[in-house]
Amino acid sequence: MKTGWTGPGKGIMQGWTDGYVTEIGYTYSFHPELQPWPMAEVLGKRSPISPGEPFDYCELGFGQGFSLALLAAANPQARFWGNDINTAHVEHARWLADGAGLSNLSVSSLGFADYAAADLPAFDIVALHGVWSWVGQQQRAEIVTFLDRHLKPGGLVYLGYNVLPGWAQYLPLRELMLAGAKRGQGGLSARIAGALALADRLRAHDAGYFRVNPTVTTRLEALMERPVDYLAHEYFNESWHPAYFTDVAQALASAGLRLVAQGRAADRWEEAALSEIILTVGGQTAADDPNFAELLRDYLTNRPFRRDLFIRDGSGDRAVPERRWAAVGHPRDLPRRATVATRPIDVPFDTAHAALTVLLSGPRTEADLLSGLDGEGQAALATLRALELIAPCLPDDGLSARQESCSRLNDLLLADAATADRMPALASPVTGGGIAVDRVGKLFLAALSSGTDPVLHAFHRLEKVGQRVLRDGKPITTADRHKAELGERWEVFAKRRLPILQMLGAAR
Ligand SMILES: C[S@@+](CC[C@H](N)C(=O)[O-])C[C@H]1O[C@@H](n2cnc3c(N)ncnc32)[C@H](O)[C@@H]1O
Repeated sequence: MKTGWTGPGKGIMQGWTDGYVTEIGYTYSFHPELQPWPMAEVLGKRSPISPGEPFDYCELGFGQGFSLALLAAANPQARFWGNDINTAHVEHARWLADGAGLSNLSVSSLGFADYAAADLPAFDIVALHGVWSWVGQQQRAEIVTFLDRHLKPGGLVYLGYNVLPGWAQYLPLRELMLAGAKRGQGGLSARIAGALALADRLRAHDAGYFRVNPTVTTRLEALMERPVDYLAHEYFNESWHPAYFTDVAQALASAGLRLVAQGRAADRWEEAALSEIILTVGGQTAADDPNFAELLRDYLTNRPFRRDLFIRDGSGDRAVPERRWAAVGHPRDLPRRATVATRPIDVPFDTAHAALTVLLSGPRTEADLLSGLDGEGQAALATLRALELIAPCLPDDGLSARQESCSRLNDLLLADAATADRMPALASPVTGGGIAVDRVGKLFLAALSSGTDPVLHAFHRLEKVGQRVLRDGKPITTADRHKAELGERWEVFAKRRLPILQMLGAAR
């Protein structure tokens, strides 16, 4: 049903369905937080899934479906479902499934309420990234109903959403842009451009709101650089409700869910670093009430986005297999100083470097890895995890089936890179997840597959579609400089990225 908004004197605004932007499709990102195996590693014996074994996974509001399709390719032993109300999104997900022969992926364009009423299996994992705070109260209630009906006892929910107080300063900016868009002319893209220009004019006239909130100007300048598909979905929905953690926790409690861990390694590291401060500030109340402690954490970090893992009552204890780690970054990527989430981390550089060097030749069990490291081994692994330079990986059983379906999807993605800059990751049969690869990297890999020169291949492909990579954020003006830039990128890619991609089975 098209509902749209009634703007003052402008009639119904088209381009929204159930208050959600549908005129412009969403971006084509890969979200690592959606990967099942890092979730299982964190949960240990409380995990509803065991490495490499079958499971049922559902993503609600999957956008273009790229993350979901990639996970289906990397885990052919499991079954994947998902819905999105935007039929163009669902068509794109089907295109990926058909092109890569993913018979374990089924997608639907039903809204949350109808999807909750559909005949579906009981899921081990239900994931929602960037959905909860972008839909209205009614849709949030429908999501809870879905979880109540379709999540197994002991099942896991991943929820990524905009959180308060991290967004507090920017709420009036969004309201201003929305008010401008409602009163604008033309299609959604034109209205969005008009709304940004309106905000910029106010800023230029020294509006008090911008003066007392200087970070809003920085944000507005950044927004003016972002593509319209991101802006449309991030800021121009009828519903946009950054939420306090305590309110989200209360809503999910009605489906028997409670917070069990942070979904991102960096946030878990920061959580440990902040735990003493939280007890000092919040006293016994924070010790007794984990939701209150989380609220304090959000004030301490002022982070804008949470990635939460909730678990449903009724989990049994599972045997925890030995941990195995794979490198997802090269030893040369290891920094001597780093910030994790919002805080600096001490990097035990030499030991961490030694661990990553060993992992270049392939995954190792944790015990095996530690036996070759000095006394800082545990700290080094924790740091590498927090920096997301290592990832848990799957047993070798089932590797060849995973490799086959990953290669089918990866071939499709390499071919897609010839004409489009989207879907910036490839599937890995080793981790059962994704690994970031940008468009130029995919063009280099396509050249290697067809036995052509990587630099010339990338150069000709890009020039053919009239596109050039940027240098220091600026366009390159001549073809010669473009070729030279691609040559430099190939040097780095061949040394640092290719060995990792090959070891992970994401490149041949
Ligand atoms: C901000 S986007 C996030 C997409 C994706 N999860 C991602 O992070 O890339 C929110 C998604 O929720 C979908 N959506 C909004 N309302 C919905 C509803 N009532 N039922 C199903 N999907 C909905 C939208 O079409 C959109 O793809």
